[in-house]
Amino acid sequence: MARVVLGIETSCDETGVALVAEDRRILAEAVRTQVEEHALYGGVVPEIAARAHVESLDRLVRKVMDEAGLGFGELAAVAATAGPGLIGGLLVGLTTAKAICLVHGLPLVAVNHLEAHALTARLTDDVAFPYLLLLVSGGHCQLVEVNGVGSYRRLGSTVDDALGEAFDKVAKMLGLGFPGGPAVERAAAEGDPARFDFPRPMLGRPGCAFSFSGLKTAVRQTILALGPEARRAVPDICASFQAAVAASVADRTRHALARFRTHHPEVEPTLVVAGGVAANAALRAALQALVARTSSRLVVPPPRLCTDNGTMIAWAGAERLRLGHTDPLDTRARARWPLDPDAEPALGGGVKGAKA
Ligand code: KG4
Ligand code: ZN
Repeated sequence: MARVVLGIETSCDETGVALVAEDRRILAEAVRTQVEEHALYGGVVPEIAARAHVESLDRLVRKVMDEAGLGFGELAAVAATAGPGLIGGLLVGLTTAKAICLVHGLPLVAVNHLEAHALTARLTDDVAFPYLLLLVSGGHCQLVEVNGVGSYRRLGSTVDDALGEAFDKVAKMLGLGFPGGPAVERAAAEGDPARFDFPRPMLGRPGCAFSFSGLKTAVRQTILALGPEARRAVPDICASFQAAVAASVADRTRHALARFRTHHPEVEPTLVVAGGVAANAALRAALQALVARTSSRLVVPPPRLCTDNGTMIAWAGAERLRLGHTDPLDTRARARWPLDPDAEPALGGGVKGAKA
């Protein structure tokens, strides 16, 4: 029988738990999102997040075990996100995983959250190494060459905001609520993407770095210049913002694909998109057009597996377990944990090392 791994995700504002078998079957999955708890504050509040994880984690673990009809003794391992992320939440998930391992004599797999996003396409689409990953979420924005489990080369990342963060901030300026990405996309559907000529950040520059703060400022200035008229222009502002984002991200990804080809001339590149912003249809369309022009292929896992979830942690755990990579029970949670330790920090160092 295929070995089954329990996965636990608590690094941000989703409590995710799932059971995944080594043969890529998802036996059970459960996610509790904390959107309502944080909406009032317009962003994720770490202490509230940690408390909410404590309140729901045990119940979600029970739920997936019952749904699959499995006892803990039948598991092959427990995988939990050990970083990067909000330290309070990480401690909740990792400690719970350690307790289950200790009681039932199971191995622990301490999973890097970014690696879990990176490997999801192997669960959903059986994508072979190497491939190019575009990770665009509320906390991350990077292009990474995925060469194997534990083997990553970062080609570029943001020098300021993550892409989801930029969506959230624009939504806040327009009074659209939190999380902003889906609200911006909905408003944009009725708008004219050509009305405002927002800057396309980094367009035409060499390399694969992202930047969104200039674009964000341009949106703010437009809102101020419009004054009371801004209200009626919300759909056009959103559509124009989205068009600028899509053009910029497609340009950065085009450069990354070219670099990928020089590193791996023997393979037709596969572009995998992960993270919450992968749900954005305008962005997906721009990337689809890009891969069509460059004879590569696009793989986007379903939205529920692009946003934070326990399934990707269980799968990353299964991938590591297959290679014999398990971790001691005194493994620590890490707020920062870059995928590619050799990459230059794009956001500056800080006392705890490079931000991911
Ligand atoms: O991956 P995720 O669920 O959480 C982490 O940040 O790890 O990503 C959430 C981010 C938020 O910033 C949200 O606004 C954005 O993804 N997002 C979107 C869309 N759906 C979610 N951004 C643009 N368009 C969307 N449809
Ligand atoms: Zn994530």
